[in-house]
Amino acid sequence: MAKIRDNWGSRATFILAAAGSAIGLGNIWKFPYMVGNNGGFAFLLMYLIIVFVVGFSVLLAEFAIGRAGQGNAVQAFRTLGKKYKIIGYLCVIVALFMASFYAPVAGWALKYMIWSISGLFTDANASIGYEKIFGAYMGMKDVSTGNTIQGLSSFLGSSPAFAVIILLISLVIIQIGIKNGIGKVNTVLMPLLFGIIIILVIRGLTLKGGHAGIVYYLTPHFKEGNILVNLLKVSTDALTHAFFSLSIGYGIMLTYASYMSKEDSIVRSATWVVVLDTLIAFLAGLMIFPAVFAYHLEPTQGPGLVFSTMPTLFKQMAGGTIFAFLFFLALTFAAITSLVSILEVVITFAEEEWKLSRKVATWAIGIVVIILAVLAGLGNGPLSNIQIVGKGIFDFYDYIAEALGIPFVGTCISLFAGWIMFDRLEKELTNNGQLSYGWMIPLKWTLRIISPAVCIYAFITGSGLWSLVSS
Ligand code: ALA
Repeated sequence: MAKIRDNWGSRATFILAAAGSAIGLGNIWKFPYMVGNNGGFAFLLMYLIIVFVVGFSVLLAEFAIGRAGQGNAVQAFRTLGKKYKIIGYLCVIVALFMASFYAPVAGWALKYMIWSISGLFTDANASIGYEKIFGAYMGMKDVSTGNTIQGLSSFLGSSPAFAVIILLISLVIIQIGIKNGIGKVNTVLMPLLFGIIIILVIRGLTLKGGHAGIVYYLTPHFKEGNILVNLLKVSTDALTHAFFSLSIGYGIMLTYASYMSKEDSIVRSATWVVVLDTLIAFLAGLMIFPAVFAYHLEPTQGPGLVFSTMPTLFKQMAGGTIFAFLFFLALTFAAITSLVSILEVVITFAEEEWKLSRKVATWAIGIVVIILAVLAGLGNGPLSNIQIVGKGIFDFYDYIAEALGIPFVGTCISLFAGWIMFDRLEKELTNNGQLSYGWMIPLKWTLRIISPAVCIYAFITGSGLWSLVSS
């Protein structure tokens, strides 16, 4: 007898889970430092245009493909056209690399949350003792010295223990299932996350001297140099980040939508996801920049903005321990609900394609990701001599997933949805003609031309091919 597929149980649960996937480290950790590094409002504006034009269109396409295909990423494409299942395999590979570098960063959020409860952010000497207890590879130096951090890998250090803990938590949630595991966790964590973020935004906005941060955030300012070169860099970063943040281009929304009810409106759900994801990213900027300026810290320091600057700031802030705890608690919640969704792409694939029970699929894939994530963590420490195409292990995963994978898969999905399958997907988007929208033609051409064009552009520039050609 065929196995009955799990489902979300209600539209609200699906929307919260999809929003929980989208809202993650990308919103709270990455978005603010990308704004800081990429010209403030210039990046924000470019990001908003890409999210609402290209991101929204590809999200609709992924939802429609997933629900029409009724299966894991490979099965979804196979249902719609056997020879396109290769796109599904690409989604699974990209998700595997994505999970393996996402987990170490998520582990950092958890580690900082634990530090904050023990008051370590308010006592630099205590943190040195903590480092002794937990070993040399915990990356404490960055926090206690507050030094400007250059590269992501040098900053992250190696902290495999916390990556493993966060992976184990995520795997337990996944094993329980779609409705009772992932669905329930998102229903609890997402409202809590919104609540904490609102408290932190109010705290940031009421800090003396914080208005300079708002001005910085909401006005365009490019670095020195050619404005066109700057704009091109900003648009590449904005595109890749928009896809990363909306969880599109690596099979998540497709997989989640395969468990969605046929009665629900895809357009309404996608609108909620895009609005909530963008809102939280925007609020993360409002919570971080006023505080950074109020305490005269550096807004353009890149990946260290959240993990290095914020602890320095919490040390000086009245009530810093509680705000530090709330901040890293929010980051941990956001990271878990996203990590779960990235893993789900690979686990649903293993469960359905290899005919495994959910439990076996979860732990088989879980072990592989744990090994890859530990290697990524150690690659920033004792294994730093291992280089793949000139990159450390962590940066290599990131490169495969974000620089190559997302734009490439984004191009394939857009072309597939726009040129090959649009009529079928239109039926899915309109629930077989029960709903009607006046913008199907613009959607079709966005998927056919605009989205592939920007994805190919991001692939060429982000992969380094452009500098090879132009040098
Ligand atoms: N979309 C998830 C994030 O933004 C992966 O972190």
